Amino acid sequence: MILVTGGAGFIGANFVLDWLRTSDEPVLNLDALTYAGNLENLASVAGDARHVFVQGDICDRALLDRLLAEHQPRAIVHFAAESHVDRSIHGPGDFVRTNVTGTFTLLEAARGYWMGLDGERKVGFRFHHVSTDEVYGSLGPNDPAFTETHAYAPNSPYSASKAASDHLVRAWFHTYGLPVTTSNCSNNYGPYHFPEKLIPLMIANALAGKALPVYGDGRQVRDWLYVSDHCSAIRTVLAKGTPGEVYNVGGWNEMPNIEIVQTLCALLDELKPDPQGSYARLITYVADRPGHDRRYAIDARKIERELGWRPAETFETGIRKTVVWYLANQDWVADVLSGAYREWVETNYAGRAV
Ligand code: NAD
Ligand code: DAU
Repeated sequence: MILVTGGAGFIGANFVLDWLRTSDEPVLNLDALTYAGNLENLASVAGDARHVFVQGDICDRALLDRLLAEHQPRAIVHFAAESHVDRSIHGPGDFVRTNVTGTFTLLEAARGYWMGLDGERKVGFRFHHVSTDEVYGSLGPNDPAFTETHAYAPNSPYSASKAASDHLVRAWFHTYGLPVTTSNCSNNYGPYHFPEKLIPLMIANALAGKALPVYGDGRQVRDWLYVSDHCSAIRTVLAKGTPGEVYNVGGWNEMPNIEIVQTLCALLDELKPDPQGSYARLITYVADRPGHDRRYAIDARKIERELGWRPAETFETGIRKTVVWYLANQDWVADVLSGAYREWVETNYAGRAV
């Protein structure tokens, strides 16, 4: 079996669901169920004996040791993290704890377990670390896209904590020989995306007739990838990647935020027209995110050249699927928009001048 951390979050849940659709190999899913973890994401595999869910913290070394000894996974895929940049600005401590100390604790537990393996099981063991393009910092408008050798220059508490975790993973390979791989991916979107992030927030707000808050001038550029393509990239690295190597994953799809919001409004106008007029009337420019990175772009040629991976979805197909999913899963959105979510919206948006 494989051990997945953070498998009740957005990408982790998509990964677990895709894994169980495409393989018979069981998954041990370890997730602390923070505000971002949601067992409803995994409802479709609730009765599936191949999915073993454990609520627990990656900082809990005794728990990690026990799970590894008991379940003997052949690989670890590490998603668990605090993932939202705006939250990292309001409260960086949780990001250092989970992303840095948690990754360190998991690496140490994995190393202890791996050292006790022998023969093929030791050679074949993999620790895959799921990371982000944000560790490379911000690009100018004409700079080439990030390659795997781009210098690290993280600018937010979130990206700094992910950069630190990447360095730990790298060091555990060079110092201890732990067979690790790392992927640095661009912005994901798709089903089960928590509505604090740009795309699901805009869909939820538009349907509720609320303002669509665009930070600054809205010309910040992100490189968007449909989540199932990220999952297939990770499966590819796990199967064919070389220990010690880093693979950048992206959608070849750079777009300014304002164009993303306009695209969402146009799709909603088509699929769920509002008698009061186009959803674009709700677009509202608000104060910018402090330290806001201007542009990210991923050069994903290495993973294509060496491992044969390319995204299957275009932005047009992926974003339409996403809007259709949110329209069909309004109950999921309503459940997520709990009291705690409303408190976050108050914290993040109340102080922003329009
Ligand atoms: P998410 O916030 O939706 O989910 C994170 C999950 O980790 C949640 O289920 C949460 O309960 C769990 N978790 C948090 N702290 C934990 C702890 N201490 N112990 C165990 N579980 C814990 O995040 P996501 O968007 O799915 O991102 C998953 C990973 O992918 C992260 O490592 C993130 O940095 C990386 N990533 C995300 C994106 C993106 O666009 N969302 C892009 C590139 C990389
Ligand atoms: O690049 C990969 C990263 O993408 C991941 O590592 C992070 O975990 C993930 O959260 C995401 O980070 P971003 O900060 O790029 O995503 P977010 O959806 O928060 O914001 C996308 C862009 O939209 C960003 O430029 C900020 C802007 N934005 C966001 C929100 C929530 C707005 O203009 N208004 C908003 O209300």
